[in-house]
Amino acid sequence: MSSPIRVGVVGAGFFGTMIASACAGHDSFDVVAVADPVADASQRLAEAHSARAYVSFTELVDDDTVDLVVVATPNHLHAEPAVAALLAGKHVFVEKPLGIDEDSVGSILAAARGARGRLIVGHVMRSFPGVRRMVAQARRGDLGEIIEAAGARRRVVHLPDDPGDWWKLDRRRSGGELLHEIHELDLVVWALGEPSEVLSMTGAPLAHGEHMVDSDIVTELRTPSGALGRHSVSTSAHRAEWWFRISGTEASVEADFRAGTVTRYEDGLIAEVTGVFDLPASDESLRESAETAQSYNTGGPGPLWMRTAVACELDEVAAAVRGTSTTLTEHPATAALVAIRANTLAAEAAR
Ligand SMILES: NC(=O)c1ccc[n+]([C@@H]2O[C@H](COP(=O)([O-])OP(=O)(O)OC[C@H]3O[C@@H](n4cnc5c(N)ncnc54)[C@H](O)[C@@H]3O)[C@@H](O)[C@H]2O)c1
Repeated sequence: MSSPIRVGVVGAGFFGTMIASACAGHDSFDVVAVADPVADASQRLAEAHSARAYVSFTELVDDDTVDLVVVATPNHLHAEPAVAALLAGKHVFVEKPLGIDEDSVGSILAAARGARGRLIVGHVMRSFPGVRRMVAQARRGDLGEIIEAAGARRRVVHLPDDPGDWWKLDRRRSGGELLHEIHELDLVVWALGEPSEVLSMTGAPLAHGEHMVDSDIVTELRTPSGALGRHSVSTSAHRAEWWFRISGTEASVEADFRAGTVTRYEDGLIAEVTGVFDLPASDESLRESAETAQSYNTGGPGPLWMRTAVACELDEVAAAVRGTSTTLTEHPATAALVAIRANTLAAEAAR
């Protein structure tokens, strides 16, 4: 067996902690360093993994024992550590969204070009086993010629009573709902490839005042082959939806994340039903999470399905570092760039 990939985690908050815990439970990884400007946070997470604690990401990037830098900082702070780590020859795993504006995304892509390490983006839903099967079927031609890929994440998001100065509720730092919850849009572009046209609109009144300006946003894409992409996200939909579908001339496959199922349809009839994770307890946990209104994550270990998802993602990260998988490396920036463009178009349409 090859030696473990030595991980440095930049950002010791909710998700940095979750990734570090998942690495600790995975044979391919060893957490050796943590960096966070909040010294207590860095120290706490480092101690939990017998790792070195830094307050600056530059110290972590300079640490020769680190092979893979995980960037789990707030969305607007991904570029600096990611670029520094790529220039230092490290493999880099950047949490989604890759960046929230064209400059930050462009700087990461420029650093990745010709870099020794790989750029891996945390589009975690690409690693869900059921979703991987759907995209594999589409690529093998099992659905016929691809006509459409579509996805939606529509639900009520509850904000804390006193959110204070929380970056997740500040569009300038999160990028807004479309970028922060980029997952299904990413699946659409992962399935279809680079779009040639992007249309986007927002229409709903502000659901969360100054915090969330894009509470309801619809995006449509067209690819050079003529296949269409459709995406919709909402923070104020009382009829909740959470799904991803690929349709071809022979069949459609649809993941219903609220039901924990992946269904194949032929001529309008159900041809096959499988699970999203193929693990009954994780599929059930997905169903339980989807039953309730959502809130943005603050801490804690996260539900079972999320931990299962991160474990599946780490399998792909290990394979990407070892050069045997492209699940998380292909189209690293397309979804972020489409979302950035869609935000601009939606804001123009709302004026
Ligand atoms: N894939 C998923 O499903 C998923 C889920 C949650 C969060 N995320 C992503 O993970 C990232 C982190 O989110 P979170 O929920 O952990 O946020 P968080 O606020 O809990 O944690 C962010 C941490 O980054 C630290 N930080 C700020 N600036 C830093 C810097 N320059 N260098 C190092 N650390 C710095 C903060 O002190 C904080 O500890 C975000 O990009 C978010 O979108 C992904």
